[in-house]
Amino acid sequence: MKKIIVLTSGGDAPGMNAAIRAVVRTGRYYGLEVYGSKSGYQGLVEQAIFALEPKSVANCIQHGGTILKADRCVSFYEKSTRDQCRAFLTKEKIDGLVVIGGNGTFRGAALLHEEGGPAVIGIPGTIDNDIQGTDYTIGFDTARNTALEAIDKIRDTASSHNHNFLVEVMGRSSGFLAVDVGVAGGAEIILTPEYTLSIEDLAKKLTLQKRHKLSSIIVVAEANEPGRSIKIAEQLKQLTDLQYRVCILGHTQRGGSPTTLDRVLASQMGFLAVKSLLAGTTSQMVVMQNGQMSVAPFPDPNMPSRTVTDNSLIEMNDILCL
Ligand code: F6P
Repeated sequence: MKKIIVLTSGGDAPGMNAAIRAVVRTGRYYGLEVYGSKSGYQGLVEQAIFALEPKSVANCIQHGGTILKADRCVSFYEKSTRDQCRAFLTKEKIDGLVVIGGNGTFRGAALLHEEGGPAVIGIPGTIDNDIQGTDYTIGFDTARNTALEAIDKIRDTASSHNHNFLVEVMGRSSGFLAVDVGVAGGAEIILTPEYTLSIEDLAKKLTLQKRHKLSSIIVVAEANEPGRSIKIAEQLKQLTDLQYRVCILGHTQRGGSPTTLDRVLASQMGFLAVKSLLAGTTSQMVVMQNGQMSVAPFPDPNMPSRTVTDNSLIEMNDILCL
């Protein structure tokens, strides 16, 4: 192993810079040539790679986003594009690839290796925390703290004016963000992609519940319909006559300075990714399982994303919010 590339792909997540920094500095410490690919797999398509030195990653650990830029490179799902990238990697004598991202990113890396490409190792990075095989993904902690801070602020004005709010958080197929933010923010109801209530049942729940509340917050995960809380508010008005104001937190949750937890875990993950490549590992990702960091195979591409299967926090919240 002499030459490696690091890239960030898919949606960005706070803490990615800490992981890049760890990959570059660990790689250089062990005498590897380290390159960055611009905008994820797109950089391989466009042959846009550049050398990274320890100083290239100075002063980035505290910043959100990714200094390498990120993209959802749809064409990488096509074999012809991967063939073209593989030829480029062979020409450049690249031995290893560290990919930081989510499920789609790992699928691309696994295919590239299977088809004869370099060794690949993944670092899980997505605010959704939805990757099978790891309890934690970089960015999740920062995103939930960002959303919680917003909810606390909304609560101030909601309680001053006796208003009800629907606060929409991210989470495409998994409700990890919504559940944690809902419990920590004292939400009355938490709606996730996995835990769905029909609008009629939601209306019934809101009207049956002993409503001694003058103001309230419902946390809604955007699921695959960003902005869906606007429709929910309109339907609730018709069914219950309760008026809900809507606040969609959207991409604010993807940015911002990473928390201590995200920086520490991202640093450990980047360090272990390079050590694993040096030890001959390929087609694996760094994982956190029961508080232990190790490497494990990429998730089965035929399996759905990791979802919230334990409803105990939501059930507890149903009691705590009364
Ligand atoms: O990265 C995960 C995520 O933020 C999801 O929560 C969200 O559904 C999606 O990405 C939004 O993606 P985009 O920024 O490409 O619209």
